[in-house]
Amino acid sequence: MPPGHSARHPPLRGRVALVTGATRGIGLAIARALAAQHCNLILTGRDQSALRRIGRELASAKAGAAKIRILTHPCDVRDPDSVDDLFRSIRHEFNRLDILVSNAGIAHPNLPVDKIPFPVWKAVIETNLNGMFLVTQAALAVMRRGATIVNNLSISANRVFTGCAAYNASKHGALGFTNTLREELRPKGIRVIGLLPGATDTAIWNTLWPRAPRRKMMSPATVAQAVVNAILLPPNATVENLEILPSSGPL
Ligand SMILES: NC(=O)c1ccc[n+]([C@@H]2O[C@H](COP(=O)([O-])OP(=O)(O)OC[C@H]3O[C@@H](n4cnc5c(N)ncnc54)[C@H](OP(=O)(O)O)[C@@H]3O)[C@@H](O)[C@H]2O)c1
Repeated sequence: MPPGHSARHPPLRGRVALVTGATRGIGLAIARALAAQHCNLILTGRDQSALRRIGRELASAKAGAAKIRILTHPCDVRDPDSVDDLFRSIRHEFNRLDILVSNAGIAHPNLPVDKIPFPVWKAVIETNLNGMFLVTQAALAVMRRGATIVNNLSISANRVFTGCAAYNASKHGALGFTNTLREELRPKGIRVIGLLPGATDTAIWNTLWPRAPRRKMMSPATVAQAVVNAILLPPNATVENLEILPSSGPL
């Protein structure tokens, strides 16, 4: 815990954070880490039963000493109406947003460019790139000076892996978007953090490379710890790109 921070009064206490793709993996780990900081949470994803289960888990973990408010609201980030509906709920429940974690994302089976079906290409771009744009645009209307945006990209945002053209393209695009957003929001006092994790042990690998060596990967909780540490920096400092990798090197 950084100096000057106390467990009873964590500095993020009472802040309102939205995590997209919070139903499992890195998004869920970030949601848990923000709950431990006593943030109020809006958790989204498409899997409604997972959202209900996680809402109950986090509410009961915090029941007692520090009450946090948790809104679970299904949202498909590819769908502008679904994103509008989410933000209607956020305005109604909180009318502000201090932290946005744009994390929802998908991969695709490892295939060379000439074998990727167009619907697969489209789904990846719509989720990882268009979805980030839609959520960001809606969020900016309720974010103020002092807020932080974390965009979960990947090390695929600045290097390429063969067989992953749609994923690489979506993440390279999302990095360009993130870098532009950072400059546009700098004068408004909103920090933008590009998160570039290496291999992390989540369900995404079932699509990408089912037999990948999981034991060499980071845990989602480790990535979440790095994200919360970055958010906890004082407002006059930021981590612009948070590249976090397994110390054993590439898989
Ligand atoms: N795992 C890694 O090695 C790694 C490395 C670098 C970056 N990343 C990035 O980390 C992010 C999270 O991935 P993960 O590894 O944690 O994978 P994961 O366990 O498969 O989680 C993906 C999350 O995204 C949500 N999601 C997918 N499509 C969505 C949509 N259309 N609308 C709303 N939510 C959607 C899923 O929820 P629902 O299914 O409930 O919708 C789920 O909560 C992704 O952006 C991924 O590219 C992962």
